[in-house]
Amino acid sequence: MGESAKLIIGDKTYELPIVGGAENEYAIDISKLRAQSDFITLDPGFGNTGACQSAITFLDGDKGILRYRGYPIEQIAQQSSFVETSYLLIFGKLPNQKELAKFSDTFAEYSMIHEDMKNFFNAYPSNAHPMAILSAMICSLSGYYPELVHTHMSPEFFYRVVAQLLSQVRTIAAFSFKKSIGQPFVYPRHDLKYVPNFLNMMFSSPAKPYEMHEEVVTALKVLLILHADHEQNCSTSTVRMVGSSEANLYASISAGILALWGPLHGGANQAVIEMLQQIHADGGDIQKYINMAKDKTSKFRLMGFGHRVYKNFDPRAKIIKKCADDLLNKLGIHDPLLDLAKQLEEAALKDSYFVERKLYPNVDFYSGIIYRAIGIPLTMFPVMFAIGRMPGWIAHWKEMMDDPMTKIGRPRQIYTGELNRNYIPIDQRN
Ligand code: SDX
Repeated sequence: MGESAKLIIGDKTYELPIVGGAENEYAIDISKLRAQSDFITLDPGFGNTGACQSAITFLDGDKGILRYRGYPIEQIAQQSSFVETSYLLIFGKLPNQKELAKFSDTFAEYSMIHEDMKNFFNAYPSNAHPMAILSAMICSLSGYYPELVHTHMSPEFFYRVVAQLLSQVRTIAAFSFKKSIGQPFVYPRHDLKYVPNFLNMMFSSPAKPYEMHEEVVTALKVLLILHADHEQNCSTSTVRMVGSSEANLYASISAGILALWGPLHGGANQAVIEMLQQIHADGGDIQKYINMAKDKTSKFRLMGFGHRVYKNFDPRAKIIKKCADDLLNKLGIHDPLLDLAKQLEEAALKDSYFVERKLYPNVDFYSGIIYRAIGIPLTMFPVMFAIGRMPGWIAHWKEMMDDPMTKIGRPRQIYTGELNRNYIPIDQRN
């Protein structure tokens, strides 16, 4: 590959540097294009535009490859823990036993939230969407822990902020669920690891302790790991954009949570189940909904299908589908929505509309089946995605903050509005 690309505009030729990545992907560096040519590029949705260089996650949409700091997602999901995966994504290496034990202990030390923050939960109506609560509470942490609100911090301080945020997000999520069902909050326990602690806070009550099942813990661990990072997706790009103004980590993450909420992004896991419930209630006529998805006038989309990058298969969807099958078999649960999901996938993958557009099940298509089997309520499905994505957001915020090339995000535009005109006093208007 040459050192530069030539851009010919009119009678002028511009040399633009070519940037190569570790996996032999290439970019044309246009950072000086406007200064040289007075032209900008236009790429709505940024599908052809790199926002940064990053060493955290690599994915290849055509080959269905996803690696965290070089480790294949299939190996991480099977062999790692969510706390270890978080350490890997944020600090760039797999921790040794001593490092992992210290990281895990720090989670336990900072798993509580300020007691006064319980007042927030009491102020929300019981049907408030937990994503709204989560975003507000994460941003509010900056009010209760002002000493943690720095954009540039020592490694030791950053370590504590990271552990506290990853630990508290679990507590906040569980508290929002308890509030929604009118049950007392269950506090985190020092003796429980990340996932069992979350399940205990969610489902134990003074009347009945939660019966921990290893297969449930494993399924949830796999889901959190699979959601941990996905390079420059919509919510991670939001975290980077907000952080580029030197907004603190809590503010940046809070914005990322809200971006994730959208049904085209992390809210899709909730939308998939709502879609399957609609199909089930409508008699299970799969072909009717396949036809609706193909009919542009219907505005109906097959939720959980398609992806901005994966144009072959989403490696996470394959793992989650098997995980769903295994969990429901072990728990002896028959979920008709899983049968419908499989029938939908089978029918769609035989249909030229989906095949030609390279639309395959994505990470959200089967994940809701597992959340349902565990007993997590529908509106908390995007919250589970947010808990999983937390280490990725943190890792990207820090990588951006540490990058001397980082500038405040400020895209340009092509103006299509009115030309210059004079103000018309109101008594002269029609
Ligand atoms: C996530 O980016 C990430 O990494 C995200 C994520 C992560 O880990 O962070 O992977 C998580 O957000 C997964 C995606 C979850 N969203 C959904 O499942 C919602 C349903 N999917 C779509 O809305 C859509 O597929 C997107 C938003 C995911 C991707 O949109 P694209 O790539 O912009 O696709 P497009 O809109 O350009 O569609 C291309 C064609 C269009 O038809 P034509 O105009 O060519 O005729 O495919 C059609 C679309 O109408 N199409 C669909 C479809 N998705 C695309 N048609 C029916 N059902 C769908 N789901």
